[in-house]
Amino acid sequence: MKGFTAAFLIWTLISASGGGPPAWPTHTACKDSSLEVLYQSCDPSQDFGFSIDQCSQHLKSNINIRFGIILRADIKGLFLDASLLTRGESILNYSYPICEEDLPNFSFCGRRKGEQIYYAGPANNLGFDIPKGDYQVLLKLYNEKHSMVACVNATIICS
Ligand SMILES: *[C@@H]1O[C@H](CO)[C@@H](O)[C@H](O)[C@H]1NC(C)=O
Ligand SMILES: *[C@@H]1O[C@H](CO)[C@@H](O)[C@H](O)[C@H]1NC(C)=O
Ligand SMILES: *[C@@H]1O[C@H](CO)[C@@H](O)[C@H](O)[C@H]1NC(C)=O
Repeated sequence: MKGFTAAFLIWTLISASGGGPPAWPTHTACKDSSLEVLYQSCDPSQDFGFSIDQCSQHLKSNINIRFGIILRADIKGLFLDASLLTRGESILNYSYPICEEDLPNFSFCGRRKGEQIYYAGPANNLGFDIPKGDYQVLLKLYNEKHSMVACVNATIICS
């Protein structure tokens, strides 16, 4: 059943994307015996590096992440839109402000277009157990003018 679902999903995604520019390679953000997180940039202009320090089905609060990216836009404001799907069905949409002009919570807030960011540190997250299953996650980062800063789609496999 799992194999069928995955095959169907891949087929759906390929059919939906049609031609278009070649896709970026798939990277592994983390992998252990019960959890695997794969991601791919969906920003046609760049790929980027991302990793998660602890890979566990029992997600701890304050996991450490690392990422590197070249900014395509100024980020006085930086906002995250996330959506979570399982077997093609939407289960959660989530929006979160990462940088706001009066609350520059991270050292990289306020950086300018063309600058490179490398962040290694905690991600403010909730700790919880990830239920078994395959999940698709789409993350979009954009600035206060709604210019895209990054786009990533990921697959989380929890077995
Ligand atoms: C990202 O999405 C593309 C198609 O939209 C899909 O082919 C690819 O498998 C996805 N990558 C990951 C890591 O989920
Ligand atoms: C999430 O947003 C998408 C697109 O706007 C929508 O189709 C979907 O129903 C939403 N899902 C939930 C769980 O609200
Ligand atoms: C930013 O910091 C303020 C004050 O410490 C806090 O109230 C707010 O929740 C933080 N926002 C984010 C996005 O972490």
